[in-house]
Order: sequence, then structure tokens, then C-alpha cells
Amino acid sequence: METMETGDYFTFEPAKGIPVHNWFYYKEAYSPQLVEWALGELGVDKGAIFDPFCGIGTTMLYAKEHGMRGIGIDVSPLAVFVAKTKCADYSEKDAGEAEKELKGMFSERKEATWNWDFELFHPSRFFGKRNYNDICYLRERVEGIENEKVGGLFLLALLSILPQVGFFIKDGGVLREEPKKSAMPVKDAFKRKVKRMVADLKAGRVGGKGPELMLKDARDFLDAEADAFVTSPPYLNNIDYSKVYGLELSLLTMQKESTRIMRGREVRGFITGESFGDAPPEAAEYSEIPIAGTYFADMERVLRNLKRIAPCGCMVVGNSVLGGRHIPVDEILIRIGERIGFEGRIAAVKERVADVRPQKLRTRESAIIFG
Ligand SMILES: C[S@@+](CC[C@H](N)C(=O)[O-])C[C@H]1O[C@@H](n2cnc3c(N)ncnc32)[C@H](O)[C@@H]1O
Repeated sequence: METMETGDYFTFEPAKGIPVHNWFYYKEAYSPQLVEWALGELGVDKGAIFDPFCGIGTTMLYAKEHGMRGIGIDVSPLAVFVAKTKCADYSEKDAGEAEKELKGMFSERKEATWNWDFELFHPSRFFGKRNYNDICYLRERVEGIENEKVGGLFLLALLSILPQVGFFIKDGGVLREEPKKSAMPVKDAFKRKVKRMVADLKAGRVGGKGPELMLKDARDFLDAEADAFVTSPPYLNNIDYSKVYGLELSLLTMQKESTRIMRGREVRGFITGESFGDAPPEAAEYSEIPIAGTYFADMERVLRNLKRIAPCGCMVVGNSVLGGRHIPVDEILIRIGERIGFEGRIAAVKERVADVRPQKLRTRESAIIFG
């Protein structure tokens, strides 16, 4: 059997087979084993864990499963919804009601009265006519489910199947049309997903007290206290979460403009109207590269908050290749951390090769331990 190393847990791949953790695929997430390893390095096994970029709630669900208190924030309403739904307390009764509800869901087929729209293009472009209608119909239908937890499960199931039922793929930072891709009928994908989620609930894997999850910006002041943080910020790689997960976000909120609102709150790791800005001194030599200065300025604000909230923590980051230059994000963040009172060390790495034609540059992802 292949042995896994810490760096392999920087990705979501190992989590794909883990119940509940795998309810929503987020390419940028890490696996719960990473949280376990980080807490071991930090010598923390009780109390409260903070995650300022909680994403789909990997740290938060781990905390819940291990009897720890979780405090998580994210600027994405989608991420906060997914994390909350995964971390909710479900009873056997909820599982039974979900099964019953699913049976009645497709007994009569109706045309949708609501029309799903998205800021960047009309989503019907990426779905067959029938599938587009069924997505709109199901989105309206879940609103009417009386049991809120069952409604949450169904909505998460619907959001999670979009890539399977559409003619598109997520390719780095963009959504790309793939007319030749196979697309499952919504009804089949949805039923299969809900059945799997209910099976996880019946296996009774989610116990413990739920975390506190909030829609907030990690750069802003937060009145919180924790024993450690375990987190991974957006990378300096031009990925705008409001675009890559824009279809899911607009379907969740039923608001076309929700992606634009979120974009204005993200850590600036992608080109925006304000791509150049004052870089902290540790990143000064990269300040002429678009986004490098603003990214490190944002991350300094985040580190300052972390210093106030928790005495130690682990941060998984990726180094970047921009404008043909390798930017050692991990070393720069350690130096910024040192200036504001943290000691930092790289405790695990995953080497990567960046294909920036015509050259190939070695780069890496790292887990920084701050204390
Ligand atoms: C690398 S992902 C974190 C994934 C998480 N570790 C997990 O396992 O699901 C980074 C997250 O940061 C969020 N984000 C971006 N800017 C933010 C900000 N200013 N404050 C809080 N969260 C932010 C994104 O929405 C995204 O969910």
C-alpha cells in the first residue's frame, strides 16, 4: 500500500472517500488528516480551534468530531453554507424524513417558475434544457421543505452535483465549456447524492457540538479567542473563488449579483482593479508584480488578527510563479509573522513543478507552524 506523507494531505484527494467530509468537492480544500497532523505538531488536543478561511469546513468538522470547539469564518456564503450543513446535528428522525421527502420529490414533475441567472453568463449555456429546468425546479422546491435540516441537505446535494450534470469543467481559475462532456440527468445525480448523504447520517458519524460559523472577512477585527488556528488562505495564483464557484453561489443565494459582492471581500490573490498596492517590506522586491503587493498586505492583516486570537497555529500555503519569477510565499509570510511577534517554521512541504512555458520551475506548498 502506498504510504501517505503529510504533503499529500494538503489536497482534498484523500478526503474524497471520507463520509460527510466528501459531501461537497472543493478542489482547494485540504484533508482532515492535515488537521490531525497540525494539532499534533502544535501539541493541542482540546479547547478551541480557529479557521479564518474555513472553506467547506474541514477544520471545523474535524474539531466537532474530536470534541473541540470550532470557530470558522469565510467570505463565501457558499463555503459557510456547506460547512454549516456538514457540521449540523442530524437525528435519526431527520434521516428518515429526508428519505420520505426524496420519494415524494419527483412524484409530479413541474416546470420551474424561477429562472436561475449568474453574473458572468447565463447558466443555461452549460446545461441541457431539461437539466436546466430541473435544477431551477429543485432549487424552488427545497425552499418549501419544512424540516430545515432536510432542506439544507437537499440544497447541498443540488449544489454539489452541478459539475456532474453540466457541460463544463473547472479549469484552474476558469469555468470552461465542454460540449462533448457527458452530463448525468439531474434527477439521477440528485437522488444518488441524497441517498449517500442519508447513508452517512444513518452510520451516525457526526456527533459533538457544532462549530460557530460566520460570514466574515479574515482581514477584519474579530472578537474571538482560540487555542490554535489551522487554516489555508487563498494562494497567490489568480484564482477567484467567486468565479470558480460562481454557479453554485448564485444558485444558493438565488441572486445574480452575489458573486460580485463576494469578490470585493476576498483576499486579493487575483487581478482586481487595485492590483498594485503597498507591499509589506518583506515582499518589497516583488511589488512590481501585479497582485503580489496587495496579497501580502492582505495577509499581514490576517496574521495580525491571528496573533491576537490564538497563541499558535498552522497555515498551509503555496509558493507562486508569476511573471516568470518564483515567489517564496512561505518564507515571506514567516518573515512578516516574525515582525509581528510569531516564530515560524516550515514543518512539511510538497514539491511541485510549475509549467510556465518555455520553462519549468520548481515550487512547493508548505505547512508553516507559527508559535
Ligand atoms: C484554500 S481555501 C480554504 C479551504 C479550507 N481549508 C477547506 O478545507 O475547506 C481558501 C478560502 O478562503 C476564502 N476567502 C478568501 N478571501 C477571504 C477573506 N478575506 N476572509 C475569509 N475568507 C476568505 C475563500 O472563499 C476560500 O473558501
